[in-house]
Amino acid sequence: MNSFYITTPIYYVNDVPHLGTAYCTIAADVLARFERLIGQDVYFLTGTDEHGEKIQQAAEKQGVSPQAFTDEVSKKFSDAWEKLKITHDDFIRTTEPRHREVVEHFLKTSLAKGDIYLSEYEGWYCVSEETFYTESQLVNGKTPDGKEVKKVKEENFFFKLGKYVPALVEHIKSNPDFLLPESKRNEVLSFLTEDIRDISISRTTFDWGIPFPQTLSQKKHVVYVWFDALTNYVSALGKNHFEKYWGSEKTPKAVHLVGKDILRFHAVYWPAFLMSVGLPLPKRVFAHGWWTIEGQKMSKSLGNTVEPVAFTEQYGQDSFRLFLFREFPMGQDGDFSLKNFKERANADLANNLGNLVSRTLNLIQKNRSGIIFDEGVADFKGDGALEQIAKEYESIIADFILPQGKEATAMEKFEYHKYLHRIFQTLSLTNKYVEEKAPWHLAKDPSKTAELTQVLNGAGESIRLAALLLSPFIPTSSIEIIRRLGQNETQTILEKLETAKPGASIGSEILNKLKWNQGKKATVDVAQPLFMRLT
Ligand code: ME8
Ligand code: MG
Repeated sequence: MNSFYITTPIYYVNDVPHLGTAYCTIAADVLARFERLIGQDVYFLTGTDEHGEKIQQAAEKQGVSPQAFTDEVSKKFSDAWEKLKITHDDFIRTTEPRHREVVEHFLKTSLAKGDIYLSEYEGWYCVSEETFYTESQLVNGKTPDGKEVKKVKEENFFFKLGKYVPALVEHIKSNPDFLLPESKRNEVLSFLTEDIRDISISRTTFDWGIPFPQTLSQKKHVVYVWFDALTNYVSALGKNHFEKYWGSEKTPKAVHLVGKDILRFHAVYWPAFLMSVGLPLPKRVFAHGWWTIEGQKMSKSLGNTVEPVAFTEQYGQDSFRLFLFREFPMGQDGDFSLKNFKERANADLANNLGNLVSRTLNLIQKNRSGIIFDEGVADFKGDGALEQIAKEYESIIADFILPQGKEATAMEKFEYHKYLHRIFQTLSLTNKYVEEKAPWHLAKDPSKTAELTQVLNGAGESIRLAALLLSPFIPTSSIEIIRRLGQNETQTILEKLETAKPGASIGSEILNKLKWNQGKKATVDVAQPLFMRLT
């Protein structure tokens, strides 16, 4: 089986899960579910970033020890992801011994290689972003994002970042899918043409961090939180999983999904650290955009955040998951407005998909005693509109999911909104088809029985395929739809797909499994509406 490794950033525990972190985690969950669906052996990692000055200060403010503080908040993240049905395989905390050991190993290896030296740092530091700034990078005495900075002057260990810039530029240029989206790739390349300084990778003015593993200095140093945090992507794999999920230089596996604000750490620092310790680079770093809420910057002080667990308890998980990816390309910023959210849910789920499911199943119940996918009449050929719908599903699969040689598939480039657009368009087409065929009239004419069967089986098959293809986005509703189609075994269909052979054969395997018209004869279940209309 081919292996596939997807990661989210590890989240700072000075905050609780919010729209931004839920977005990134759900986006990774969607891809993890997709890759499993096409038979990849997936490892999906998330976790929490628990060291550093910012966390130490947050703990002090609450009057608790940093360890007690991080234990408590980290659990809020793992609880939220569980409630949101995130399917991660592992949850790493940077305070775990398994992580610390690997950070120490990285440092020792880099030190031995001569990539780390002791010097003095004098400049600015932003605790909120845990980022060093030079005077010239500041805008009106603050970070470009408007965060406070403070002057620091301390002995630090430095990492020879400049040494790795030429190799990194070469790597980015010769691997067009390494950094995405393309606009961000260009930003990173242009940053790399600037004079890149070596970076500080230790701090001495507080102690909540991994101790620097040697005694080259009289002072006590802790590892800079970003050096510590980035290493999680390797430390979480441990000896057992490393080879399989990290891959090799020729076949790298890791896909790091990150917010645009932390792209530089992932696209510049992280690859340089990896080169220094002699490990292969990740396959891809994708930077997603930022959400505003009702047109406003999301902020704790405005208190305008969307709390994902409470929100989905009120409005449903699937409609939330869908909305996050339906309107805005993932590389761009988006705005979360309740009005748009409701309109989307009503248009796509209640009106389009939900309506198609309920009218089709009701017609089958009424006119065919609930029997669908009856053998012998399951030939959809000769009906132009139906054939067009079938072709559209096949081309969605070919365009988005099937392997494209060495290139990333559209799903692996996070082109979710295009994919969703195509599926909902095909569902509209199916609704239109049913409308035009008017099976309620066909049912009254005994000479039209075969045509009626064809229409109902065709609509049923379109629903089945859409539910399957949408399952990474709306997992709960998809399973329910497939169940109502009498495919109790679709768990089975999903499982069958999961066991599809990898590599070159994936394509034909999947097309075979999804072959138009493979439905089994079954009895449909006409139940409550699937989706409530939101008002
Ligand atoms: O940066 N819209 O953690 P973090 C979309 N610990 N995404 C948003 C957002 C918004 N309004 N607000 C925040 C860290 N995010 C480090 C990562 S990884 C080795 C270490 C996203 O908790 C943001 O883009 O500050 C980032 O990807 C993520 O939330 C975590 O932010
Ligand atoms: Mg942040």
